[in-house]
Amino acid sequence: MFWRNNILAVLLLCCTWCLATSEEFHEALTFRPLQDGRLATRFTFTTLLRGAYPRDPSTLQEEDESQHYAIFPLALGQVLREYAVTELHLTLNAGKWDYDHWGYPDEPGVGTGAELWAWMGESAARSVDERWKGLRNALSGQFCASLGSLDEQRTTSPELTFRPEGSLPQWGTTHQLRHGTLPSEHVCTENLTPFLKLLPCKSLTGIASLLNPHRLFDADWHGLGVHVRYLENEGIEVRLSFQSVFDPVRYSNGRRDWSLRSVFDRVIDRSCPIAHSSEIRVAIPKEETAVAITPDSYTTHAGFVYFNVSNASKPLDISMSWPDEQKFEYATVSSAVPLTHVSVRRTLKGSSQSRGRLSVSITNHMPITIQTSYLESMPWLLQFYLHSLQIYSNGVSRDDLISIVSYIPSVPHVRPTLFQAILTLPPKSTLHLSMDVIKPFLRYTEHPPDAQRGWDLPPAVLVPLLHSNSSTLDPGLSNPPSGFEQLRLPRRMYTPVLLVDLATPDFSMPYNVIIMSCTLIALIFGMVFNLLTRKFTLIRVSPEPK
Ligand SMILES: *[C@@H]1O[C@H](CO)[C@@H](O)[C@H](O)[C@H]1NC(C)=O
Ligand SMILES: *[C@@H]1O[C@H](CO)[C@@H](O)[C@H](O)[C@H]1NC(C)=O
Ligand SMILES: *[C@@H]1O[C@H](CO)[C@@H](O)[C@H](O)[C@H]1NC(C)=O
Repeated sequence: MFWRNNILAVLLLCCTWCLATSEEFHEALTFRPLQDGRLATRFTFTTLLRGAYPRDPSTLQEEDESQHYAIFPLALGQVLREYAVTELHLTLNAGKWDYDHWGYPDEPGVGTGAELWAWMGESAARSVDERWKGLRNALSGQFCASLGSLDEQRTTSPELTFRPEGSLPQWGTTHQLRHGTLPSEHVCTENLTPFLKLLPCKSLTGIASLLNPHRLFDADWHGLGVHVRYLENEGIEVRLSFQSVFDPVRYSNGRRDWSLRSVFDRVIDRSCPIAHSSEIRVAIPKEETAVAITPDSYTTHAGFVYFNVSNASKPLDISMSWPDEQKFEYATVSSAVPLTHVSVRRTLKGSSQSRGRLSVSITNHMPITIQTSYLESMPWLLQFYLHSLQIYSNGVSRDDLISIVSYIPSVPHVRPTLFQAILTLPPKSTLHLSMDVIKPFLRYTEHPPDAQRGWDLPPAVLVPLLHSNSSTLDPGLSNPPSGFEQLRLPRRMYTPVLLVDLATPDFSMPYNVIIMSCTLIALIFGMVFNLLTRKFTLIRVSPEPK
């Protein structure tokens, strides 16, 4: 009796402790019909660990306090504490985000391939670089991605572009940024499975039950993200996101109508009981054509329709249709207005295998001057000749429009180039930047197995910096991207990746030699073996019996 009481008391204590540490889980799904008939979707699963602090790196030599989480993903929490990471962002994307037609993405990290960046406090016990290495390896194991090859040859600290999204605690030491991209790493089902394991309801109930890999990886663009940040006076927030761009016109003969069933091939049967809030938002397009949204148990606020998944009738299938539209008409080239303030194109010119010219053209669509930061973090596979940098605006050489913030040249086989600059874009004009580059020779062991394919080079990143009073000016866009408030926030823009063709030895020659000599050996061996093992017997042909 006494023991039973004791056990009960311990259980009760555990339960009260669980309730005392407040963890919150919010899930949301946003739909945004795009002007080219596509449909952008974004899942966000946010877990907030209230009152928690990131680990102070000066305590790294001591035993860490024990970790008890109810909702917060333990697998991720352990990695964060082991390497004392204050802020972490990992994105794995496939496809090219079309800024001109799709506008700014809801989650800014849309660069093709894998991108990992982290802010970590300095510590005498274990250096930032050592912990960055451990973090990469832990995350590649966690998410089944080849982040291990994000080594020193791809790591830079572009502090101008990748500012912390949360707060950095005051520990008396400074924080450092580590950033790396791997453009050839693609997202697939094996990355989604560990991602779903971090969710409290997995993919069984609630909004996460719509994450159907067969449909998500069929989308024109898709990518997942893991974002951890520390919010002062709040706690540690983990945001898991999955974005995709579907093409309903492709599924439903020429119409852009969609429903949860047609997009994900699933509906919501049960809500996630742990979620503090669970809602689906649909952006109402800013155009004249009438739209119909079912079911009608929604509330409308600021251009969005909100469905509360917790109390909606189940099974829940949301659909949106354009009843007056027989067939979706694509906008003509001249009437399609870019949805972003700035458009960027980056190309690598020249056909030689040793030299080339990197050319970037940036167009400012706004009637005001815009400043933008420009980042190139280039592996040593392409080396810049910075003295040959030329800047033209409307055909006139304008060296005054660039101010170089930092330039760290690459060292072959050791470290990448880091080039950060601030560009001034005159109103309604195009800035052309070009620079000579050389393509070095690689050691033959450094080539990938598919050497003839070439190398993917990471995207350049631009952050248009708008002044706070620019919102008073009409941007001249028919459909300004979702409110001016957000425009003041810095938004990253990624250029598409480049493919560079480096001098490649003829790897087929050794292959041919091997094939040829193997064939010869096989033939000779066959003949010799045949001669050695064949039994020669004398067969006497007797005269036919009479
Ligand atoms: C959603 O419904 C649940 C259950 O009725 C309710 O507790 C919650 O407040 C609702 N959320 C919103 C945002 O209205
Ligand atoms: C869900 O709850 C919200 C707020 O609690 C309420 O406004 C709405 O009508 C409810 N919806 C249904 C279908 O009960
Ligand atoms: C913002 O306003 C100030 C003062 O009104 C002005 O000097 C400045 O040029 C404005 N900036 C932009 C980008 O319009």
